[in-house]
Amino acid sequence: MTQLLLGTKNQGKIEEATELLAGIKGLELLTFSEHPFSDVDETGETFLDNALLKARSICGEIGLPVLAEDAGLEVAHLGGAPGVLSARFSGEPVDYARNNALLLERLQGAVDRTARFVAVAALQLPDGQTFVCTGLLRGAIVKSPIGAGGFGYDPLFVPDGSERTLAEMSLAEKNRISHRKYAWTRMGSLLQDLIEAGEL
Ligand code: IMP
Repeated sequence: MTQLLLGTKNQGKIEEATELLAGIKGLELLTFSEHPFSDVDETGETFLDNALLKARSICGEIGLPVLAEDAGLEVAHLGGAPGVLSARFSGEPVDYARNNALLLERLQGAVDRTARFVAVAALQLPDGQTFVCTGLLRGAIVKSPIGAGGFGYDPLFVPDGSERTLAEMSLAEKNRISHRKYAWTRMGSLLQDLIEAGEL
């Protein structure tokens, strides 16, 4: 079995990754409970920077292949903001309702309300190889929060082709179309390929 350490302490992300990578033959997923690692400051300017920062730092510390991910919302009218500041858009401590209120304020009068969620998954191997996959969910920002499910910006985001916000969808429904789903499943294909090639 090939061991792969998930570079996150977020239980929701661990469960999501475990489910999305379950079909990969020969892969044993490990978490921080088996191999505790230090927190990594997310100081990068892009999702890619932060995903690489986490994967490389934890791989260097623990010496196992590490899969890390970074995600957030990019709003066209705001030139791609809040981007890597998505969690802390309205300051700390992280407060989703306050973030949503600030986003609506910044979009007052905006003609273009298009936005996209972005997820970047980075795989770092101890021999120096790095692999990256991106997933996108395109949509638009509504004028007031709708729905009680999900987290973060979900009550404000209507995916293209849908008439409901992500917060009105079941978790299973959201997970079939989400940015993270695409990033993780693309990474899954890559992992399978690396295992078959004997690189992992
Ligand atoms: P993380 O890197 O996945 O922790 O995401 C950082 C921030 O981006 C979160 O705190 C949310 O504000 C926002 N975000 C990322 N993915 C989602 C999502 O699927 N729905 C709503 N907000 C999200």
